[in-house]
Parts: sequence; C-alpha cells; structure tokens
Amino acid sequence: MRNLKAKVFNRKASDPRNKPDQILEALELRQGQNVADVGAGGGYFCLRFAEAVGRKGRAYAVDTNPRFLKFIKNSAKEQGLNNVETILVAGEDLALPERSLDLVFMRNVCHHLTNRVEYFKKLRRFLKPKGRVAIVEYKRAKPFTFHGMFGHYVPRETIIEEMKEAGYRVKQEFDFLPEQSFTIFSK
Ligand SMILES: C[S@@+](CC[C@H](N)C(=O)[O-])C[C@H]1O[C@@H](n2cnc3c(N)ncnc32)[C@H](O)[C@@H]1O
Repeated sequence: MRNLKAKVFNRKASDPRNKPDQILEALELRQGQNVADVGAGGGYFCLRFAEAVGRKGRAYAVDTNPRFLKFIKNSAKEQGLNNVETILVAGEDLALPERSLDLVFMRNVCHHLTNRVEYFKKLRRFLKPKGRVAIVEYKRAKPFTFHGMFGHYVPRETIIEEMKEAGYRVKQEFDFLPEQSFTIFSK
C-alpha cells in the first residue's frame, strides 16, 4: 500500500540511531497491558507494543490522520497481530476507554498540540491509577535546522512544567536519545 509519509515515519522510528530497542526496554511493558500510541504516525511503536503486551493486551493507535490508521491496520494484519485497535480523533479530542491504560506513549507529537496542559489533563481519565505517560520529544532545536525553523520541538523543561501543571510527576528520565528528551510521568 502506498503511504510514503507513514513509511518515512517508520524508517526514522526504527533507525538504530534513534534507539527504538532501548526505548522499548525502558518502557518495561508486560504481557496483558494496554497501551495507547497517541499520534501513532506509521505505527512502528504501536506494533512493537502489540507484540510486547501479547494477545491478552491491547495496543491502540490514535491519530487524526485516517490514512495512517489504515496503514497501521494493514500492517498489523500482515504481521498477524490481532490486538491492535485504531482510533481516529478530531482536533485535540481523545476517545479511549476510561481508566483502561497502563501506558500512553507520545513520540514527536507534543509540538503539534496547541493546548498541551488541557490535553494532558484530559489524558488522565484514560489511565489506570498506576498508569504512566511516556513523552519523547525533540529537544530545543538549533535555529537553522528543520525542527528549529518550523518550531517542531518542545524543550524538556517545558514538557515537565506543563505535565506538572496537569497533575503528573516525573517518574523516570532518560538521556540516551541524541535528538529528543524522554520522560516517563505518573499520575
Ligand atoms: C511527527 S509524527 C510522529 C509519528 C510517530 N509517533 C513516530 O514517532 O514516528 C506526528 C503524528 O501525530 C499526529 N497528530 C498530530 N496532532 C494530533 C492530535 N491532536 N491527536 C492525535 N494525533 C495527532 C500526526 O497525524 C502524526 O501522525
């Protein structure tokens, strides 16, 4: 199926320089857990989550772009993964089962959100009491880079500040990614 943008997202997400295996390891997913990949793009991480949580778990791919979700659905089918669910959202709405999620994962998505504190607050009701939110986001970018010119980044300190304002606390921080911050929050 032709979906070049989804494939480009997946190529970048799976590039060893971006340390996908280390990200997976750091998330410590277990069989039977429910995970939402919000802003799933080409679904590289969502499908890896589906493998990690097994048949009794569930991986939700959430996105505003129906073409990406269709691509993810087809990829899941090709890989024989039947625990992947796609959820189309409009604007900054969220539609997930309440109090159901062990983890919300957002990679390179926060810079797309206009009212992040409100968004993070809304996320809370979908998490289980011990649920976590993992945010991977471009660090402050240099002025003449793609991310710098288009504002495609949110500094680590801003993410932490905004998450705290939304009622979360930092659970873990990792600094092994070359271009992004990686922080895990709990409620
Ligand atoms: C830069 S891509 C990152 C894709 C993927 N997370 C990755 O790391 O490869 C950003 C994704 O977020 C999606 N997106 C943007 N705004 C969104 C929103 N309000 N809710 C859900 N998804 C959104 C876009 O459609 C796109 O798939």
